[in-house]
This record gives sequence, C-alpha cells and structure tokens, in this order.
Amino acid sequence: MPLLTLVPFATEHLDDAAALLAARHAINLGREPGLPEQYQHVAEARALLAGLCGVPQTAGVAALADGQMAGYLLAARVLAEPFTYPKIYRPSRLLEIDPAGYAVAPGTPVSLLRDLFARVADGAVRAGYRACAVYVPAVEQATVHVWRSLGFGLDLTVGLRDLSPVGPVMLPPGVHIRRAGSADLETVARLVTANDHHHAGPPLFLPALPEIAMVQRTVHAPFLADKRNAAFLAEGDSGAVLALHTYTPEEPDLVRAEQAVYLQDAYVVPEARGLGLSRALLATGLAWAARPEQQRAYRQCTVAWNTANLPGARFWPAAGFRPLLRRLRRDC
Ligand SMILES: CC(C)(COP(=O)(O)OP(=O)(O)OC[C@H]1O[C@@H](n2cnc3c(N)ncnc32)[C@H](O)[C@@H]1OP(=O)(O)O)[C@@H](O)C(=O)NCCC(=O)NCCS
Repeated sequence: MPLLTLVPFATEHLDDAAALLAARHAINLGREPGLPEQYQHVAEARALLAGLCGVPQTAGVAALADGQMAGYLLAARVLAEPFTYPKIYRPSRLLEIDPAGYAVAPGTPVSLLRDLFARVADGAVRAGYRACAVYVPAVEQATVHVWRSLGFGLDLTVGLRDLSPVGPVMLPPGVHIRRAGSADLETVARLVTANDHHHAGPPLFLPALPEIAMVQRTVHAPFLADKRNAAFLAEGDSGAVLALHTYTPEEPDLVRAEQAVYLQDAYVVPEARGLGLSRALLATGLAWAARPEQQRAYRQCTVAWNTANLPGARFWPAAGFRPLLRRLRRDC
C-alpha cells in the first residue's frame, strides 16, 4: 500500500468521499435489497455526507495516498441534554459515528479504519468524549470485525422486515386490540416506563433514571396527538391494559429507507407474555402501516433491540426481522 497521509476532513474532500461511499453502498445493496437505493449514486451520497458534516461538533479525517482518497472517517461529538428522550440512555459526552461516516477505497484494506479512528478519537477523548458508538450495516461483516478489533462490542441491532402478515395470530379469549389516543397518555407513559425498567434489569442493565416517567409523559403527549404515529393497546375484558406497540415514521439515513415505519416501543406486562399479544399487535401495526392513506407509502418495518435484551433478541428475529444495522459501543 502506498504511504498514507492523514489530513483533517474538509469540504474539498466531499466529492471523493461521496464516490467511496456510493461504491461501498452499491456493494451492500447487492447483499441487502432493503437498503435505500439512492445512495449508490454519488450525488445522493454527497448530499448525505454534506448533511453529516453540517452537524455541529462533527470532525473527521481523510487518508490520502498519492493525492487519491483511500478512506475517510467522520464522527460527531454529541453532548447529552439532560432528561430528554432518548438522551436519558446516553452517556453525557458521546462520540458517534454514523453508518455513512466512513468508507475506504476499493482495494484498500478496511483495517484502515483503525488508523482513522485513532486520529479522530484522540482529540475527542482529550475533550472528555470517552464513550463511543459506531453504526455498521449488518452485511459488512468485515467492518464489524475491524471495529471489534478496536475494542468495540455489539450492543444494538436494527432489524428490517416487509409488511407481509406475521403468520397465524390468535388473541386469547376476552382480549381485544384498540388504537390509543391522547386520552391514553398516562397508560402509554406507564407501559413505556415499565419497558425502561425492564431494560434496566439483567443482563442489560441500562440506566433507569428517576426522571424517566416524567420524560416519557412529555414525549408521548405530542406523539399520541400526531396522526402520523400510532399506538395500539391490547386490553383484557376487565379493561386491564396488557400490552403496547407504538409506530412512527422512520428517520431515514444510509440504511433506513424513507418507506420504513419504525416500531418504537413494544411491551407486554410480565403475566401476559407468551400468549401471542406482541404477535397480534405486530400484525395490527403492519396492517395499519400498509394502509394506502398513509402519508408515506410504507413498504418496510424496522425495530431496534439491545442485543442483551433477551426477550427482544428472541422475539424480533422469530417475527421475521432480519439484521439491517449494528451498533457497536466502546468506552475509551
Ligand atoms: C418481547 C415481548 C414484547 C414479546 O411479547 P409476547 O407477547 O410475550 O410475545 P408473543 O407471545 O406474541 O410471542 C412469543 C412467543 O409465543 C408464541 N405464541 C404463544 N401463544 C401464541 C398465540 N396465541 N398466537 C401467536 N403466537 C403465540 C409466539 O409464536 C412466540 O413464539 P416465537 O418466539 O417462537 O415466535 C415481551 O416479552 C416483552 O414485553 N418483553 C419485555 C419488554 C421488551 O423486551 N420489549 C421489546 C424491546 S426491543
């Protein structure tokens, strides 16, 4: 490999970086047809990268070999605002690497990312950003391996499925499903908070700050009032609420398509688990997403699960979700 020079990433590098990103994405599209198609085109990849560079506190590095770009890495320094969602789960200073935040030239070993990360992380760690998260398309096994070799560990998977039916669904006697509205705010906030507490248990042990219930109430008031979102509740005949699913338009990026609806929260009370309620709620949510009057013509559903959340890690693949994106974490 020719001698590499590492230089700070600048606007003049955008065109070359976009060409690398588009080439990387075209290869990934051949393996995962559910990825957004547009980023195999350099102009679209460039617009995505320009957006990343515009995020405050984003900095990066480009590797040049004989004046040609061999690779780049961009990372955002994210300062948590206290007590906002989803920041209640995040370290106060997080170095975050977007799935579009890196690429290497065809023929260049992907292990170049190790050198790029060393340069980018150095300044960030000195500035107190000791926690780092990187997102990797699930089809890029070799890239996952490189990040793991830097001490990163898998902590989250984003799964993808189409809107086809989930298979046989049968609700237990006396249980029905209904769409929740603003009047259900307290119920929805209670179940989502219970889900947060579930995530604080073994073997995941996410933080469950005392402010969670307040934050969930604040977040779900506008959520329930917005018709682009949907929350579905499973209720027993006594009126007891047994389970919740919530759906919202996905935030598109390199791997998540505009046509995806995001299954944001799924929770079944402990005594009603294994009865098919989550399957039934998923069937209801997918049917809702497939309705023609949706603002976006949904074709996909995404869901994210912490890999150490055992019920989620079992349920979603069994419900037809395949890995789309991995998040790996490291504390420096
Ligand atoms: C993950 C979770 C939502 C699953 O909900 P659930 O209602 O228990 O799931 P279901 O009962 O629909 O499915 C569980 C299994 O029971 C089976 N099942 C049992 N009775 C069924 C019935 N009458 N109809 C259909 N499926 C049935 C399902 O096929 C499924 O089997 P599988 O895992 O082999 O596919 C639930 O365990 C939970 O709330 N966990 C804690 C919070 C959490 O982890 N949320 C997810 C965050 S990512």
